[in-house]
Amino acid sequence: MEKKIKLGVFGARRGSHLGGIANQVGFEMVALCDTFEPLLMSAKKRMNNDKITYYTDFDKMLEHDIDAVIIANYATEHVWAVIKALNAGKHVMSECMAMFTMAEAVQLVEAVEASNKVYMFAENYPFSAPNQEMTRLYRAGEIGDFKYGEGEYIHPINPEEMAGLMSGPDHWRAWLPITYYCTHSMGPVMLITGTRPTQVTGFVIPYDDKDTMNFGRAKFNDSSSVLMCRMDNDALVKIIPWSELRDHGNRVRICGNKGTMEASQQDGRLRVHHEAFDFEPPRTNTVHYMPNFPDFARQAFRYGHGGGDFFTNYYFHKAIAENSKPIIDVYMAIDMTAIGILGYRSALAGGIPMEIPDFRDKAVREKYRNDDWNPNPALHREGMPLPSVRGKIELKKESLDKFNELRKKFVDEL
Ligand SMILES: NC(=O)c1ccc[n+]([C@@H]2O[C@H](COP(=O)([O-])OP(=O)(O)OC[C@H]3O[C@@H](n4cnc5c(N)ncnc54)[C@H](O)[C@@H]3O)[C@@H](O)[C@H]2O)c1
Repeated sequence: MEKKIKLGVFGARRGSHLGGIANQVGFEMVALCDTFEPLLMSAKKRMNNDKITYYTDFDKMLEHDIDAVIIANYATEHVWAVIKALNAGKHVMSECMAMFTMAEAVQLVEAVEASNKVYMFAENYPFSAPNQEMTRLYRAGEIGDFKYGEGEYIHPINPEEMAGLMSGPDHWRAWLPITYYCTHSMGPVMLITGTRPTQVTGFVIPYDDKDTMNFGRAKFNDSSSVLMCRMDNDALVKIIPWSELRDHGNRVRICGNKGTMEASQQDGRLRVHHEAFDFEPPRTNTVHYMPNFPDFARQAFRYGHGGGDFFTNYYFHKAIAENSKPIIDVYMAIDMTAIGILGYRSALAGGIPMEIPDFRDKAVREKYRNDDWNPNPALHREGMPLPSVRGKIELKKESLDKFNELRKKFVDEL
């Protein structure tokens, strides 16, 4: 039987979910680390697996006998942990986002290149059944050359659920600029079409005091955003990064010069359309169908995010086992994350287009090596942006009191 790859997991919420799936694809999860002990102990109870050792100190976990690590700590703090793990000789799969500043992107790419370990980015939305089917169709030439695309990730979260996802106003979910969580929207477009963004222009819809969903959530980031991206084949792509508009879903639309395709928001069916004049003899052709996974359908349907969580683990394992390039490597990870950082910079500058650097070219990195432009309110200083385009947002006391009540209930029930 094939030897299992020993896995440590950093982050007990999302991380423990991914670790559970990893056990199905050739990993053996043997360590889990989180500083928040009630959550760690709740994961221990849920997983009920005596092969796992539990840690509150990441350095100590890296001393455990592990070959690979899943990094699922705070979304804004992945790079230091990835670099420590690579330096300790571990393969790494990092959750979204890949980095929080452009200077970190330089550190990340150089650390990955200096290691001879796998770095895979855990962007999971490209691997839903409709997105994998669109990848297959695009490669088969079904819609011709890519001209225009759309990628959206809409996920409104009510106060009760949000109380389980953030500890308070200093947690990243409370303040992350609304353009930053963009890889679920751009990732599918990049993987389907094989293109990368070269330029971004950002637009932000400001924080909405009248949105009743904001009462009791301790959150003060803006409402929504649009990133208009130019791709390296001159196509244009409209991206809506994680936003709390209504109607939950990951919408992807790909238009080519011979047809168009998109997944229906209503029922997950794919719609593929051609004009009559795209055929000889002319005929119109619109098909609607429910796409299936090309492989592993039975396993993928059992896990989260439309099967995506199964496939990120599967591809991470494959890259380690075959010593091959992972399906989403560090360069793609930086490309799809950078549009959020530079898109916010563009929005604050009134919509000036920003170049998306290609860090495959070492010379390009120099301009960004010291670029620590950072919207974290806890690190705010002269010259740094605030997380909302409106500037400092004061949360209402009654709203914070309600959040604290909901959070206490969540922690008490862990
Ligand atoms: N791809 C997806 O669909 C998806 C879904 C949810 C979350 N995520 C990503 O997963 C990551 C984790 O998100 P989450 O939802 O679990 O919430 P989270 O960010 O609150 O969880 C992070 C966990 O890491 C722990 N942690 C942070 N710093 C630590 C340290 N120095 N030492 C030990 N533990 C530490 C925290 O206590 C917390 O429990 C984020 O990057 C997020 O973007 C991805």
